[in-house]
Amino acid sequence: MLLLVMLLLGPHGADPHPAIKAALSSKGLQYGVNTATSWLQEKAKVTELPEISGNVDIGIGSVDYDLNGITVARLDMAQPDVAFQQGSGVRVDVTGVSVAVTGQWHTSFSIIRDSGSFDAALFDVGVSSVLLLGSDSQGRPSIQIDTCDSQIGDIQISFHGGASFIFQPFVDHFKGQIKGKIVDQICPSLNEGIGSLEAFLAAMNVSYHVDPSLFLDVPLTNAPLVQDSEVEFDLKGVFYSEADPLEPPFPSQEFPMARPADRMLAMAASEFCLNSYAYACLRAGLLQTLITDSMIPDMSPIRLNTSSFGALIPQLPKIFPNMLMELQVYAGEAPTVSLQPSVFALSLTAGIKASAVLPNSTLAPLFTLKLATGFSGKLSLSDAKLTGVLQLDNSSLAVDSSEIGPFQTQSLESVLNSALKIYVVPKMNGILNDGIPLPGLRGVSLQNPVLQIQQGFLAVVSDIIVGTELHPHTSPVGGREL
Ligand SMILES: *[C@@H]1O[C@H](CO)[C@@H](O)[C@H](O)[C@H]1NC(C)=O
Ligand SMILES: *[C@@H]1O[C@H](CO)[C@@H](O)[C@H](O)[C@H]1NC(C)=O
Ligand SMILES: *[C@@H]1O[C@H](CO)[C@@H](O)[C@H](O)[C@H]1NC(C)=O
Ligand SMILES: *[C@@H]1O[C@H](CO)[C@@H](O)[C@H](O)[C@H]1NC(C)=O
Repeated sequence: MLLLVMLLLGPHGADPHPAIKAALSSKGLQYGVNTATSWLQEKAKVTELPEISGNVDIGIGSVDYDLNGITVARLDMAQPDVAFQQGSGVRVDVTGVSVAVTGQWHTSFSIIRDSGSFDAALFDVGVSSVLLLGSDSQGRPSIQIDTCDSQIGDIQISFHGGASFIFQPFVDHFKGQIKGKIVDQICPSLNEGIGSLEAFLAAMNVSYHVDPSLFLDVPLTNAPLVQDSEVEFDLKGVFYSEADPLEPPFPSQEFPMARPADRMLAMAASEFCLNSYAYACLRAGLLQTLITDSMIPDMSPIRLNTSSFGALIPQLPKIFPNMLMELQVYAGEAPTVSLQPSVFALSLTAGIKASAVLPNSTLAPLFTLKLATGFSGKLSLSDAKLTGVLQLDNSSLAVDSSEIGPFQTQSLESVLNSALKIYVVPKMNGILNDGIPLPGLRGVSLQNPVLQIQQGFLAVVSDIIVGTELHPHTSPVGGREL
């Protein structure tokens, strides 16, 4: 019963197929890890390491020591070895790291306290860890440490100042202890680092406004799929109207993921994703406009008034002589996008409601037309913007209703057809030529992206560059103008 209620109350038509997919290749992973390593190397130089304390028997009793104010003077490391671990996550192996540190030492032996400075070199430091990738209940990515092993090959340490000459000879006896204490800190520090990454991921939004009235829902639909040479993220990828967030009334389709091959990243959006955008625009009331005579270009042979329209509909000026007209243009249903190899097709059906503006400014309804249009074109990428060019393939006009009696539509149809070709298509192409910015992750930009239109989906493969400064979030694929 409860299940039935939940089903009835739950979102209708919700579909499990992801509409946006992204895949990171081994090359992308290696780049990401290299970037993180450089960042870590920089950060290590300004971070104070945790203090180390213990005691050592010097034959005549036990000396308590602590080492603090430990800072990294030098860190030499090769790029970590990273690999996807099928079905779970990522294996990271860091080997052969050398670290030089400096700090202060303090000892107390009975009531004698002493202090000075020290420097130490750690050789062959290494850590091997498996990081698990998953998703949380909100569809955000998650990361945690599965296994971690750390080791240090050797440590050399020299004490300076105070009575250090007394215990320096014992260093060989207690450097093993210090080494053990440092080794024990490596995995907990990694855990802390992964913990702050996890906290960042847990605070991520899985829904973005792309416009004040539209948002895009992008939770993961399942845990990341880790393969041998890539990890794939499946995202819901559905657009909604803020005011009227209905599920699209058409089904989503499964589509194959574009492989990043020798590039770092691949992203794909299905036809369903683009169509949900069109549907959200419709629900948000964005697909309507009022056309008045003042908007008609000067060179137009036809004005938006009843006298001028007499050439197309002879009875009109007889019923409403010499009055201005208005056209309310609206999409009756959502435009549909269809994607075939290399071709982008758009079909758009609009209602056109014509009214005469009476001398007392009230509107008198004249007729309603139904205009169906088909466009096709090509899309490409330049400067991380989606650009393209469209052409009008066909259009057809029918009278839906008329308050002024029947009339022939041939002349009206050819005028509308010319208007589409002369004004509307160039305007759409102007917008497409300026380009629509692709979605960006903060601080990450695409390098040499390549766009492909495949059967049922759009795919982009690209390399990425992580900038030192964060770039503002840009709006996602697909302008309303499409
Ligand atoms: C998440 O969305 C909320 C509301 O839209 C916004 O205030 C917040 O800054 C966003 N957080 C992030 C990390 O983008
Ligand atoms: C209607 O348009 C014609 C040109 O076709 C123009 O001469 C006339 O002044 C216009 N009438 C009104 C009411 O705007
Ligand atoms: C405007 O004029 C029309 C016809 O002359 C009339 O039917 C209508 O009631 C008038 N509307 C107003 C608000 O005066
Ligand atoms: C355009 O042509 C295609 C193929 O001939 C047809 O399926 C479609 O219905 C036509 N669209 C319009 C608006 O006439």
